[in-house]
Amino acid sequence: MLKSVAVVTGASQGIGRATAVRLARDFSALLLVARNRANLEQTAESVKAAGAEVLIIDADLAEPSVSKAIVDQALAAFGRIDALLNIAGAVPQVDLFDMTDAQWEEGLALKLHGARRLTIAAWPALKAAKGSVVLMSGNSALFPKAPYAAVGTINAAIVALAKAFSDRGVAEGVQVNSVLPGPVMTGRRRSYLQHWASLHNMTVEEATASFPKQAGIARYGEPEEIAELMAFLVSPGARWMTGATLRMDGGEVKSI
Ligand SMILES: NC(=O)c1ccc[n+]([C@@H]2O[C@H](COP(=O)([O-])OP(=O)(O)OC[C@H]3O[C@@H](n4cnc5c(N)ncnc54)[C@H](OP(=O)(O)O)[C@@H]3O)[C@@H](O)[C@H]2O)c1
Repeated sequence: MLKSVAVVTGASQGIGRATAVRLARDFSALLLVARNRANLEQTAESVKAAGAEVLIIDADLAEPSVSKAIVDQALAAFGRIDALLNIAGAVPQVDLFDMTDAQWEEGLALKLHGARRLTIAAWPALKAAKGSVVLMSGNSALFPKAPYAAVGTINAAIVALAKAFSDRGVAEGVQVNSVLPGPVMTGRRRSYLQHWASLHNMTVEEATASFPKQAGIARYGEPEEIAELMAFLVSPGARWMTGATLRMDGGEVKSI
């Protein structure tokens, strides 16, 4: 197999971990980024078991200096970057009227600026490899709600950011798309359900059971299902798809 290298952020758990494990079937080497080293090592074991080389970097993507270090290490270890999957995200789930400037900055620093900086740092390598980028947004971009205003706002900004990158990418040979998952059962979804339970005077168990019906879906998504979409987007078969915003949400969005 021709050497092909993917960088996956948020690879320590949830959708990022599932994506890394799935990509190990298609790429010869993966670089995994998140803060929790022990969890990254667990992901790395599964990646190795699937036959790919792996390097882990435990780093806080909200730190401006980190993106260059990640790209430098990827190039030193593997010599190229063919795909960058920006999946890390942890926007505070706080009501619009309670959220502090510091909480807004925290959400923006990781999910928007972390992805923006890493994509820019990796761009020359992506250009050289005619590579592919995915930015993770979320369905809340389409229906921002006051109790979690920053989540919807920042996810909408990610869609716009991906579109701007894809505009440059058309000229420079880099494919860029964004993905909007609906409710997927991960650690982040569990923390959302805790918040949702308290807003609706329910136990977390009641909220977890009733949320899919309220959201108009038959069940929660699995991280592995989103991972399949991510793998398709960075595969040769999806090459002409760029500047696209893809939803995978069990039918949560009812509009056309
Ligand atoms: N689950 C859903 O229903 C859903 C729906 C729509 C969109 N999404 C989006 O999908 C993405 C993944 O979410 P998930 O549900 O899989 O959540 P998750 O299980 O909580 O995973 C989040 C990942 O982001 C990493 N991360 C958080 N802060 C970081 C930081 N400062 N620096 C580096 N890495 C950091 C976490 O690793 P460490 O803690 O080890 O750093 C973890 O690997 C997020 O962008 C989320 O907004 C999820």
